[in-house]
Amino acid sequence: MLNLSDSDFQRLYTYIKKHYGIDLSKKKQLIVSRLSNTLTAQGFKDFSAYVDDILSGRDPEMVTAMLNKLTTNYTYFLREEAHFKYLWDVVLPDLAKKHARDKCLSIWSAGCSSGEEPYTISMYLKEYFGAQASQWDTRILATDISQKILNTALTATYGEEGLSSLPANWKQKYFVKKEKDQYTVSPAIKNNVIFRTFNLMDPIQFKKKFDLIFCRNVMIYFDQETKDALVGRFFNATVPGGHLFIGHSEGLNKTTCPYEYIQPAIYRKKK
Ligand SMILES: C[S@@+](CC[C@H](N)C(=O)[O-])C[C@H]1O[C@@H](n2cnc3c(N)ncnc32)[C@H](O)[C@@H]1O
Repeated sequence: MLNLSDSDFQRLYTYIKKHYGIDLSKKKQLIVSRLSNTLTAQGFKDFSAYVDDILSGRDPEMVTAMLNKLTTNYTYFLREEAHFKYLWDVVLPDLAKKHARDKCLSIWSAGCSSGEEPYTISMYLKEYFGAQASQWDTRILATDISQKILNTALTATYGEEGLSSLPANWKQKYFVKKEKDQYTVSPAIKNNVIFRTFNLMDPIQFKKKFDLIFCRNVMIYFDQETKDALVGRFFNATVPGGHLFIGHSEGLNKTTCPYEYIQPAIYRKKK
């Protein structure tokens, strides 16, 4: 392992927090263990010159590579099933009625990682609208800060084990078997998801406001101030009556949260 002095550690975590909202101020060991090999391979003898290079902003690719190593991309299909039950029982019937004329929904998976979350949503939409699905525009915007993980999402290929949390017949319905134990998401499900790189610290300037935003297990990395500011931006980007889903291990500040609390990890903007 390479040496990371306290002052270099402070310079690095301050930079990462300022630009990406990710709070690593208590994660010195994680930084050392996840980055040491990369630094050694690039010829660095310690962190000092590396931190200088990162902070100079000379090489955006270097910053991306660092973030890819430091963020946790853990995810799986049908994670936190309660959200999908609520989607099915409450949100989709409500949206189907509300959008009966324009037949256009706007759903955002913010911090989508390797794609399991937006693809699960896409499968639910297909199930819900059934034969009518082709008449609806239900494309899901799926964003992440890491281009590397988005490349995995675009490949849309997963091991058989990863599919085990989905209803048994969905493997046949929504995946195409590749070689060995590998399955690729079927074109109908895949083409309903639009992947983009997006840093959640940036202003939210998408064309439409959202009926539903999933931002689950992303804000765990952010401190309270960063989280409050992001929730405020989400709120402005949500249509009246729209929902925000967060991870069940996360909580929003009750006094400052502009959304109405509905049930654990589910919030709604008043109509
Ligand atoms: C643990 S995954 C969550 C995936 C999925 N939402 C879920 O609940 O399973 C967290 C994701 O947030 C992304 N992330 C972290 N900071 C971000 C930021 N500032 N902007 C956009 N994405 C970010 C990471 O790259 C990672 O893929």
